[in-house]
Amino acid sequence: RLLIIDFGSQVTQLIARRLRELNVYCEIHPYQKVTDASLKEFDPKAIIFSGGPDSVMREGSPRPPKAAYELGVPILGICYGQQVMMHDLGGRVEAGEHATAEFGRAYVTPSETRPDFLNGWFMDGTEKGVGKEQVWMSHGDHVAEIAPGFEVYGTSPGAPFAITADLARNFYAVQFHPEVHHTPNGATLYENFVRLAGFKGDWTMGAYREEMIQKIREQVGDSHVICGLSGGVDSSVTAILLHEAIGDQLTCVFVDHGLLRLNEAEEVVKMFRDNYNIKLIHADESDLFLGELEGVSDPEVKRKTIGKLFIDVFQKYASEIEDAEFLAQGTLYPDVIESVSFSGGPSVTIKSHHNVGGLPEKMGLKLVEPLRELFKDEVRALGHELGLPASFIGRHPFPGPGLAIRCPGEITRDKLEILRKADAVYIDQIRKHGLYDEIWQAFAAILPMRTVGVMGDGRTYDYALALRAVTSVDGMTADYYPFSHEFLGETSTRIINEVKGVNRVFYDCTSKPPGTIELE
Ligand code: XMP
Repeated sequence: RLLIIDFGSQVTQLIARRLRELNVYCEIHPYQKVTDASLKEFDPKAIIFSGGPDSVMREGSPRPPKAAYELGVPILGICYGQQVMMHDLGGRVEAGEHATAEFGRAYVTPSETRPDFLNGWFMDGTEKGVGKEQVWMSHGDHVAEIAPGFEVYGTSPGAPFAITADLARNFYAVQFHPEVHHTPNGATLYENFVRLAGFKGDWTMGAYREEMIQKIREQVGDSHVICGLSGGVDSSVTAILLHEAIGDQLTCVFVDHGLLRLNEAEEVVKMFRDNYNIKLIHADESDLFLGELEGVSDPEVKRKTIGKLFIDVFQKYASEIEDAEFLAQGTLYPDVIESVSFSGGPSVTIKSHHNVGGLPEKMGLKLVEPLRELFKDEVRALGHELGLPASFIGRHPFPGPGLAIRCPGEITRDKLEILRKADAVYIDQIRKHGLYDEIWQAFAAILPMRTVGVMGDGRTYDYALALRAVTSVDGMTADYYPFSHEFLGETSTRIINEVKGVNRVFYDCTSKPPGTIELE
């Protein structure tokens, strides 16, 4: 396995990502936690030093442990990682006013000799290959003098030591970021590096599953674990993995707040009981939630009411489970990164997101987070590995507050019923047209107004619906989906014919920003 020592770069997770794509197992450890002893115990086959925001010239700035250089394993240093390597091994780094800061696109040209590390680079169609490679730079300081034993193998106008290596020791150090999209050929460097380090690229999701099961057993021992199940992919995969690891030491709690989609509660509960035989409490608390929400129309009050009730209810059920010591959460890698780099920032609250953060401390529970090192698509792959049906794995995200935020204005049971039926028809249309997997998220919302229509020979005065569908990578920004007019016409007709109480359908063609994905 490979160890990535994280010096705090915003893109460290992308290094892990590139390595996973090469089927190499790696772990990211923050530099503060890597000591000579822990490094020897980890016994890496290769090490990568990530980038980072600090300056090696600053007293007390991050360093790898000395042992890293003495293990005799290949090392790749990136940006700050390069500077730290040069500094530690006898080179010189310049900071402050002497430094040429460089941000953005740059072009690297090769030197005469080309080590194996650069196989596939600088190819321009000729056998020798002297083409330039586009790279992404982002540094304030720069290396002024390379360490003894190192040679330069590539330069850019702002970085005379863009690519350096000590071939005898298998140490490689680059000033740019090969892991990002803007270094189009960057993956090749990672591939060359792991091949030089002797990795065969045979790590699989199956192997990860086994490893996680072992880790969960070690962490949990004989204790009992509670897992909140939402029916989403992350919490489902977490539950199934835990169940494989510890069987009946796991109890799942599925809180039904009465704001779920058509047949959703039954489907989720059935899937878990039938296929996995997991201990599952189906907490039907819809009367409580809908009761408290009566007359509430302000979006933030809705969100806060639901969030608070959710915690109360979860706590009530969880406290009935004897000897519970752990709470399992489906936290993903991007959540970990975001919460580290953005916590405490000055950003405004657009919406109070529904989450159960703070719950473990309140209840005196420890956390188990088996998905902490995975990206969303890797969670899906693990779900597949664990036998979750494909239809379940590919489901669109669904927000914690559920249909409440798709029902602007007051929430009533009548409106919810109309909304559920209309949403089901809409999603059925999308599936029938083979569009479901192209869309990040699609749903109907019921608008707080009635409009006049004519059906048959009669007047109608019914609700209007908004249909929403967006494409997105992470939900942070989104584009509305460009359905054809035929599709929209057909869907509108079907909804109005099949769902009593609706006589008008709008399509929401707002992107995010300026809109948000949900209506509230
Ligand atoms: P917005 O509406 O903020 O939504 O553009 C972005 C993504 O987040 C989902 N969402 C939530 N998910 N709890 C969640 O778990 C929430 O309170 C919540 N609010 C919005 C939304 O469905 C979209 O995928």
